[in-house]
Amino acid sequence: MRMVDLINKKKEGKALSKDEIEFIVSGYVKGSIPDYQMSAFLMTVYFKGMNRAEISNLTLSYVNSGNTVDLSGIKGIKVDKHSSGGVGDKISLIVIPLVAAVGVPVAKMSGRGMGHTGGTIDKLEAIEGFNTNLDYNTFIDNVNKYKMAITGQTANLTPADKKTYALRDVTGSVDSIPLIASSIMSKKIAAGADAIVLDVKVGSGAFMKSLDNAKELAETMVAIGKALNRKTIAIITNMNEPLGHEIGNANEVREAMEVLKGNGAEDETTVALTIAAYMVLLGGAFKDFDSAYEKLKDIIKSGKAIEKFKEFIKIQGGDTEIIDKPDKLPNSKYHVEIKAKESGYIEAIKADNIGVAAMLLGAGRRTKDDKIDFAAGITVVKKYGDRVNEGDAVFILHTNMGNCTEAKNIVETSFKIGKEKPEAIKYIYEIIK
Ligand code: URA
Repeated sequence: MRMVDLINKKKEGKALSKDEIEFIVSGYVKGSIPDYQMSAFLMTVYFKGMNRAEISNLTLSYVNSGNTVDLSGIKGIKVDKHSSGGVGDKISLIVIPLVAAVGVPVAKMSGRGMGHTGGTIDKLEAIEGFNTNLDYNTFIDNVNKYKMAITGQTANLTPADKKTYALRDVTGSVDSIPLIASSIMSKKIAAGADAIVLDVKVGSGAFMKSLDNAKELAETMVAIGKALNRKTIAIITNMNEPLGHEIGNANEVREAMEVLKGNGAEDETTVALTIAAYMVLLGGAFKDFDSAYEKLKDIIKSGKAIEKFKEFIKIQGGDTEIIDKPDKLPNSKYHVEIKAKESGYIEAIKADNIGVAAMLLGAGRRTKDDKIDFAAGITVVKKYGDRVNEGDAVFILHTNMGNCTEAKNIVETSFKIGKEKPEAIKYIYEIIK
C-alpha cells in the first residue's frame, strides 16, 4: 500500500477499507508516514468526509495504537461522561458525586484544558493535596468502595489521536466532524466504561457553532459507541454563554460546591442534573428519566450530594475543609470590574472570547508547558437576559497580574446590551439515543 494512493482515493470521495485506515494510522504513529502526507490526508477528510464504517474503523485504529484501561475489576455498569468542550464547564465535578451517591460506579479519566476551554483535572488540582494521578489499583479500589474515582489520562492512551490532534491543530483540520468524533470516542472507548453520556455543546463557546452540526456530531458519536458495544447517549446543550457564573479553576470548584449544596445557577443545575440522570439511567439504577432526575434533586436537597463530594476529595487526598470554608481555595490579589456602559438587558455574550480572556488572566495555558494560576478567572455577574443598569458590574476579572489590559479589552467587547428583554433560551436542545 502507498499513502499517496490512499490520499488520492479519498480525494475522489471513495471510502477507505479497515486495512487501509489501519495502514495510515499505524504508519503515522511509527513515523513511516510523514507529517506532510498525513496533513494532506486530514485535509482531504475535512473536505470529502467519511462514512460511519470509516469513522468507526478510524476510532478503533486510534484505540489500538496504545493501551486500554481494564475496568473489569469493577462491579456493575461503569458509566462515563464527556463534554465536547465549553467555557465554565464544571459539570464533571458535579455529576461524579451525584451519580456515585445513587450507587452507580463512575471511573473517570479526564483531561486538562485546551485553548479557551477548561479541563476537569486542572480544576481539581486547585484543591490542595488532590491527587489527579492515581495508580491503577487505587483507582479500581476507590470505584469499588466509594463508586467514584478520577485520574488524568495515562501517557499511552490513544497515542495516535494525540499525535494526529497536534497536527490537526496547526493545519486547520480540527473542526471536521469525522475527525472530532473519532478523536473523542477513541479516548472514551480506551478508558473502558460500559456506558457513555456525551455532552455535545453548541454555540459561541463550542467547536460546533450550529445546531445542525452539533446534531451530526452527536449522531456520529452515538453510532460509533453503539457499533463498539457501548451504551451511548448524547445530550446537545447550550454554550452560547459560559455555564453558570464562574470561569477558571478555584472559582469553578467553589461554584460546583454551590450546585451540590442546592444553590446553583439554573443553567448549570439543569445541565448537570440532566447528564447525571442519563448516567444513572444507563447505569441501570432507574427505569425512567423523570424518576432519576427527581431522585438526584432529592440527593442535593438532603445534603447527601455535598457529603459525597467531601468524600470524593478525601479519598483523593484533598483538603476537605474547603467544603465549609470555600475561601480556603486560592484567591487572587486583584478583582477588576467590567461595567455596563448603558442600561438594558444582556442580549449576547461571546463565550469563546470570555474563555480566551480567562486564559490570558492565567486560568488556562497559552502553550502546553504554561503553569496555571488556580486563583485566576472571571465571574459572569450578569447572564443572558439579565437586566443591567449603567455602571453595574457585568463581569469581574480575577488575576494576580498587575496589568490585565489585553483580557480587559477582550471582555469589554464580548457582550451586547439591548433595550428589550431577549427571548428565553433553552439549556438542553436535544437528546440523541
Ligand atoms: N476534543 C477532542 O478530544 N478531540 C477533538 O478533535 C476535538 C475536541
